[in-house]
Amino acid sequence: MSLSYDDTQRLRDLYKVCVESQHQMLGYPVATDYDYRDLWSFFQFSINNVGDWAEPSNYPMNTFEFEQDAVEYFCRLYHTTLDEAWGYVTNGGTEGNMYGCYLARERFPSGMVYFSQETHYSVMKIVRFLNIDYQVVASDSRGEMDYDALECLLKENIDKSPIIFANIGTTMLGAIDDLQQIQRRLEKVGFDREQYYIHADAACHGMIVPYLDNPPMFSFKHGIDSISVSGHKMLGSPIPCGMVLALKKHTDKLSHQIEYIAAPDKTLSGSRNGLTPLFLWKFIRSTSEQSKKQRVADCLQLAQEVVIKLNQHGISAWRHDNSPIVVFPKPSEQLWRKYHLAVAKNTAHIIIAGQTTANPNRLHQVLDELIEEHRTLTTEKCAGEPVMA
Ligand SMILES: Cc1ncc(COP(=O)(O)O)c(C=O)c1O
Repeated sequence: MSLSYDDTQRLRDLYKVCVESQHQMLGYPVATDYDYRDLWSFFQFSINNVGDWAEPSNYPMNTFEFEQDAVEYFCRLYHTTLDEAWGYVTNGGTEGNMYGCYLARERFPSGMVYFSQETHYSVMKIVRFLNIDYQVVASDSRGEMDYDALECLLKENIDKSPIIFANIGTTMLGAIDDLQQIQRRLEKVGFDREQYYIHADAACHGMIVPYLDNPPMFSFKHGIDSISVSGHKMLGSPIPCGMVLALKKHTDKLSHQIEYIAAPDKTLSGSRNGLTPLFLWKFIRSTSEQSKKQRVADCLQLAQEVVIKLNQHGISAWRHDNSPIVVFPKPSEQLWRKYHLAVAKNTAHIIIAGQTTANPNRLHQVLDELIEEHRTLTTEKCAGEPVMA
């Protein structure tokens, strides 16, 4: 197998783009401060985690042992145990969210999913795909679910079991929905604990919140049924991946013995990536809990410094206390495209991940340009204003 000269050149070009971009990502949640070179040798094998890691597989090249370690770690992080919960390494946050919604629909086949306006766009795809009824709940100006609006919708749909899709950090604004408020509203409307399901979408903040000194309530201890987190976001992985965990009382119902693989299965796909559990495992094993905590603290500290700097120059930037996402008014298209900043409506954001605290050069370059653009626009606006007589 060999490539033509032109095709080799195309790969070289791609390589150059990757080298130039790898540690410069500020608009999207991508941690790149990892070193997985000691795992490269596994790229030569057809590793496949088809089926359930907890059962022996007839396909020998799997990383089930490592996947189990990763599942155990996330169980600890989200206050549960392997006795109570089960989970697996997914292709990313979306698959975990789909799995949570699928379990919820199996539990309540004619239930109603409630998710806020600020919820990631993939959730709309998921509810359509799974053919579940849904209601979009209003969000407040900082991205958190409007609990009064939720209560109204719950009352209007009293005959349907609620499936709450709670955000543990929204995509654009980093808002965390308040589980206690949600549960209070459910109870107020008359639903007891056996009559609803709560899924937590912790795609980005699932690696942050557990390492805070006073974390908001978001885990199994606080009443969730399932949770999804991305592995390639704040943790860091060269291949998109994630973790989903759910109470066994929900997942056990899905398990079927599959003759072809001589094992039971309750995952969404057939073949599953066997390399990504190795990345998660390496991250978990090679860093102490204290250093993971410090990494999060450093990101939040730098995010706060960004807010202060932008504010000092008249840009109304802000962030939620528990989020590395700095939100500010949308700059010119030329600027947000140049630095690949994510934008929605009138806002843009910068996300601080591990590599940026290690080397903030690109961050400062972007901030300087944002400040300069803001200064120029403000000066032009003032110059254009009629002089009062
Ligand atoms: C809150 C939230 N949920 C879900 C997703 C989707 O996750 P993934 O891209 O890992 O599928 C994202 C991605 O940005 C997100 O921010």
